[in-house]
Amino acid sequence: MSDHETISPSVLYFGTPVVLITSLNPDGTTNISPMSSAWALGDRVVLGLTSTSQGSENILRERQLVLNFPSANLWSKVESLAKLTGRKPVPPHKQKMGYRFEADKFNSSGLTSQPSELVRPARIAECPIQFEAEVVAWHAPGEWPSERPETFYIIETKVLRVHAYKDILIPATNHIDTDQWHPLLYVFRHYFAKGLKLGQTFKAEA
Ligand SMILES: Cc1cc2nc3c(=O)[nH]c(=O)nc-3n(C[C@H](O)[C@H](O)[C@H](O)COP(=O)(O)O)c2cc1C
Repeated sequence: MSDHETISPSVLYFGTPVVLITSLNPDGTTNISPMSSAWALGDRVVLGLTSTSQGSENILRERQLVLNFPSANLWSKVESLAKLTGRKPVPPHKQKMGYRFEADKFNSSGLTSQPSELVRPARIAECPIQFEAEVVAWHAPGEWPSERPETFYIIETKVLRVHAYKDILIPATNHIDTDQWHPLLYVFRHYFAKGLKLGQTFKAEA
């Protein structure tokens, strides 16, 4: 007798931090794309982005982006962006889901644009951690069922510069104070804050 049951979930979002990706639109303005399919290894962050999003088009054209990490208390601002796309016209499958075009997502969400130092897309001032990054490789969509309206790009980015709020740093170090940093987590389409600290790995430096 097993504790497990076989299921067919509609999504596999097991739990990852939310990232607000900023990217440069063709007219030079900055778009904001909420996403959560991101993971880090060394100086790289690998992203999964749908092929019909304005963010993926901008990133593959410009090869530059900023990964802005919202804290948990920004979840309602993130959700206010959830039904918006910078893509015009709105792709038919997104129209059916209630998405609408929005040219200025900073204005619509009340988030503040902050110039970047090394890349052209702006940063989001309210996000305590920001990575300026460039695209170093990307993987074209693989096999995909013909009835699905969009595919995914897997994009490898190299982090060029990291910015962090002073009040989440261990003073005079390069370390994030993990008691002060509260990432917004996305778990099977629900928003969460992190729970109690349990311990640390032997490699933790602070
Ligand atoms: C919390 C959250 C997480 C999301 N995660 C992803 C993701 O990992 N990859 C993706 O392509 N879209 C993701 N989306 C959907 C995009 O935000 C959506 O495609 C949006 O239209 C992107 O905006 P854009 O078209 O202006 O780039 C997520 C949305 C929300 C609200």
